[in-house]
Amino acid sequence: MELADIREDLAEELISEQQLHDKLGELARQIETDYDGRDILLVGVLRGAVMVMADLARSLRRHIEMDWMAVSSYGSGTVSSGVVRILKDLDTDISGRHVLIVEDIIDSGLTLSWLRQNLISRGAATVEICTMLRKPDALKVEVDVKYCGFDIPNKFVIGYGLDYAEKYRNLRGVGVLAPHVYGGEE
Ligand code: XMP
Ligand code: MG
Repeated sequence: MELADIREDLAEELISEQQLHDKLGELARQIETDYDGRDILLVGVLRGAVMVMADLARSLRRHIEMDWMAVSSYGSGTVSSGVVRILKDLDTDISGRHVLIVEDIIDSGLTLSWLRQNLISRGAATVEICTMLRKPDALKVEVDVKYCGFDIPNKFVIGYGLDYAEKYRNLRGVGVLAPHVYGGEE
């Protein structure tokens, strides 16, 4: 069998592995300063945030704890409805904790604004958001994002945790899928 290189399915690379790495370093330095003297609980949103979480956590030179949630938005297809269902809840009691939500991407913002409210209602001392990517043109609700890696165009992107039909999460950079992959025009 011939080995296919998944990078050949990219129409363009938007953000390289090196750029992601450098940006995480910057965000980590900011987080270290902002949270000086306070414990941090990083809450990753499965599954897309796995790569950001792994790299951000290792970029931080201080102690942190990690926990995970899995959520799914009700609604048809790729359009987010804002109604969110918890598929996997935290294992940690977050009351009084400083929670930093770690996300791969903010699109409409509906998932994150719901999640932040949900975590605040559990009595967290603070809830902030760190996202690697954000699509400003797709925002439907204002979300106060303290740490954002890159603002990107309103295109469907893959790689660095983000998938198309569960594939491409293991691409090292972030890119736009080539139309031939989903049967579109080149
Ligand atoms: P909202 O719209 O609530 O949703 O901010 C964010 C979630 O939608 C998914 N999403 C994407 N996944 N490429 C992906 O692979 C994309 O371009 C994309 N845009 C949104 C993702 O699960 C994110 O957590
Ligand atoms: Mg996600």
